[in-house]
Amino acid sequence: MLIPGLGVGTYASTAPDFKEVLRRQIVDIGYRHIDTASHYENEQAIGEVLRDVFSNTGIKREDLFVTTKVWCSDKNDIPGALRKSLKALGLDYVDLYLIHWPVAFEGDWQKPQFQKIPMHRQWAGMEECVRQNLTRNIGLANVNFQLLNDVLTYAEIRPAVNQIELYPYLTQEAFVQWMKSEGVLPIGYSPLGRPYHKQADGNVVLEDPLILEIAKKHQATPAQVILAWALARGYPVIPKSGNFDRSKENFGALKVNLTEEEVTKISQLNRNFRTVDWRQIPGMIGGVPMYE
Ligand code: A2P
Repeated sequence: MLIPGLGVGTYASTAPDFKEVLRRQIVDIGYRHIDTASHYENEQAIGEVLRDVFSNTGIKREDLFVTTKVWCSDKNDIPGALRKSLKALGLDYVDLYLIHWPVAFEGDWQKPQFQKIPMHRQWAGMEECVRQNLTRNIGLANVNFQLLNDVLTYAEIRPAVNQIELYPYLTQEAFVQWMKSEGVLPIGYSPLGRPYHKQADGNVVLEDPLILEIAKKHQATPAQVILAWALARGYPVIPKSGNFDRSKENFGALKVNLTEEEVTKISQLNRNFRTVDWRQIPGMIGGVPMYE
């Protein structure tokens, strides 16, 4: 699988100018890797942009790498869920299809009714998607070492990737190294540390003094340094931006070459700080389980 190292994430991208910005991200900036999910509810809008791009520019389907994900309430018929996504996207296939979260439930994510669908059955559904030529590759997201190691014991088609939260305060170094040794490529989501979630404990990596110092040295921006650090560690990142200037700035990370020493120093900022936690997801708020 060949995957462009810098992709554009589209989580919560439903702003009125989303389509225009995405078109310019592809045509004017040069993004070739788009990450979405059925849960993001923007596959239809992305499909409209892609049709426009394929009809009116020289950019072809095979020039793009498109990822989407199966949502937790669609685990009983995974190929059926992917067919729906493909219809919305207006594509015959995606490049990568992921299990968004390992759990299965019915109903709304804020009031989930959990289903007992074991991962081996979910994975069989994913493999069926490849056999039906609906996707070129399959993978996982938000899966820990234990579960990924287990999937590798029975997968007939191995997971190509595991998309997880990775940024300088959450480096997951041992997990990243192990995945690479198993040929499972990590993909880093929220690589800028979700700056919109200004955690009370100063979890704003874009403002970290070390990042600012290295940025100054390279005449780059903090975001470019953080993304260049991830690329130097050897995995793709998918910073979301619904803003043309910021996504152009992010693309500039490809021109920033950090020294080995700088990469190591940034990695040492790790404090195992997770901003996206499974415990925040269904029926739970702020990491604290809610009962009724
Ligand atoms: P915006 O879309 O307004 O640019 P995620 O964690 O899902 O990848 O989202 C990244 C967040 O960081 C988004 O809220 C995005 O806001 C913001 N962002 C993206 N690029 C930059 C940047 N270069 N500098 C500061 N904030 C950024």
